[in-house]
Amino acid sequence: MRSHYCGDLRKEHIGEDVVLSGWVHRRRDHGGVIFLDVRDREGLAQVVFDPDREESFALADSVRNEYVIEIHGTVRNRPEGTVNADMPTGEIEVLGKELVILNKSETPPFQLDEHQQVGEDVRLRNRFVDLRRPEMQQKMRFRSKVTNAIRNYLDDNGFLDIETPILTRATPEGARDYLVPSRTHEGSFFALPQSPQLFKQLLMVSGFDRYYQIAKCFRDEDLRADRQPEFTQVDIETSFMDEEAIMGMAESMIRKLFNELMGVELGEFPRMPYAEAMNRYGSDKPDLRIPLELVDVADLMADIEFKVFAGPAKDPKGRVAALKVPGGAELTRKIIDEYTKYVGIYGAKGLAWIKVNELEKGAEGLQSPIVKFLGEEVAMKIMARLEAKNGDIVFFGADKEKIVNEAMGALRIKVGMDMNLLEREWAPMWVVDFPMFEELDGGNLTALHHPFTAPSCSPEELKASPVDALSRAYDMVLNGCELGGGSVRIHDQAMQRTVFEVLGIGAEEAEEKFGFLLNGLKYGAPPHGGLAFGLDRLVMLMTGSESIRDVIAFPKTQSASCPLTDAPGEVSAAQLRELNIRLRKTP
Ligand code: AMO
Ligand code: AMP
Repeated sequence: MRSHYCGDLRKEHIGEDVVLSGWVHRRRDHGGVIFLDVRDREGLAQVVFDPDREESFALADSVRNEYVIEIHGTVRNRPEGTVNADMPTGEIEVLGKELVILNKSETPPFQLDEHQQVGEDVRLRNRFVDLRRPEMQQKMRFRSKVTNAIRNYLDDNGFLDIETPILTRATPEGARDYLVPSRTHEGSFFALPQSPQLFKQLLMVSGFDRYYQIAKCFRDEDLRADRQPEFTQVDIETSFMDEEAIMGMAESMIRKLFNELMGVELGEFPRMPYAEAMNRYGSDKPDLRIPLELVDVADLMADIEFKVFAGPAKDPKGRVAALKVPGGAELTRKIIDEYTKYVGIYGAKGLAWIKVNELEKGAEGLQSPIVKFLGEEVAMKIMARLEAKNGDIVFFGADKEKIVNEAMGALRIKVGMDMNLLEREWAPMWVVDFPMFEELDGGNLTALHHPFTAPSCSPEELKASPVDALSRAYDMVLNGCELGGGSVRIHDQAMQRTVFEVLGIGAEEAEEKFGFLLNGLKYGAPPHGGLAFGLDRLVMLMTGSESIRDVIAFPKTQSASCPLTDAPGEVSAAQLRELNIRLRKTP
């Protein structure tokens, strides 16, 4: 029907007869002349109807916002003084000759340019309208460009796109499974994949050598701005490549994407061992745009009277960390109280601080609720270690290491953002040398990545000291967001058995849960490894969006429901009967 997209019209089309198809974005009546801004996916064009053509003029007068119309007209110069420099099509307009109303529209649930005042729930319930907004159109188009560039890159590098099942068995990625009851196998359930992990490893056993898939993954976990129950991974697996080669390949893909699609040169990604990241930034995904760092001061605090600090300082599982914020002495009590509340979210019991007013005056020049407990000598030693200067503030966290890392790590980001301390726009990096296992509160171990990740030591060493063992896992972090992660896998049965043993997974349980993978490992499994990127997170960062919901066409809410379709929904008694499911009445 159309000859041109509205948004594509330019000066060079002047004099041409065109056919446009799109939506009425706005209708204005200007003293007997009607202006329609017509919108399609490429943008807006202004169409003018004058009363000379009675029929089309009357029709133009009758249309309302979001009507779908077809227009036949001629492109012409805008009269002098009416050129709109903010609009790509602002130099021209179309003189409308014929107008066809292809479909009417009820008044939309919200005006397309007033979405700011519209709640997200309303936007999601009417997502078909929300997605018409140019901002959302651009994001979806950008996402399509990203997947296209990724496919091209991986295809050029010999990767095969292979699909893996959605109805499958549980994959252990640390979240709850979404289950699907089987009608044909009474009492049995499929699990939706948390990732294609086990299948991609089997594809390596099958000799495909280089696999990728843009794969839907499902995880029933607590949702946040960067987490959805259903999300997309760029999932990659390779054979005969070590971690160096895999990281190099993945890094060059991301570099190329940023370069081609945004003209951004990311440079080489620095690498940081996990232990260093936790120590300096309190996080395994440090935001390196912010120059602030945590500094250990436990050794200076061990012998002081103040139990709040001395306790954790002497506890092998404790940590006392200081965070110096240059220029922070100007922070008001109110803001410091807010920060105290903020670290409370992460379990911190308080937030001690020292404002450095006049360092040359010793303790007297320090303003703080805790200097009196520390004593001048300790206080000045801390100042020296931090190289504090007049005008700085130093925050302190003292508690179990985990709490201090989480609380002070989060505070570091918050203060950095609040005080606008970001040093650059993009800070990519790799975190490497992860521990193999993490100790749970009860003392049990859990795999930090997943139990198929290869340790960097022998099975004997692993058994002797599992908590000290490092893994061959790596995470790519961008601006404090975990963009992707992966590892070199275990391809040796004995090693796999040892890992299960350490995790307290018995032979029977291992067989029951992952028998098919273990079986595969028996028949000539090559050395292999890979990684997966969170596509939604990647697009979120590249488009400067605040949530991955803004780069997913039909996302779910924070409570994992879909206001558009009202999913999840109830099912009929007949369906349940067929599935042999009886619902327990909630009391
Ligand atoms: P992992 O669990 O680290 O690894 O997931 C890989 C990447 O997927 C993204 N991601 C998510 N994005 C949105 N919502 C979620 N709920 C969500 N969960 C994860 C993150 C993350 O870095 N099989 C392994 C990969 C491998 O070892 O090859 C895996 O799934 O960006
Ligand atoms: P208190 O003696 O409890 O009044 O605490 C004195 C100062 O230490 C206050 O500024 C508290 O916010 C701070 N504080 C208390 N507990 C901790 C902690 N675990 N870590 C850091 N600061 C703390």
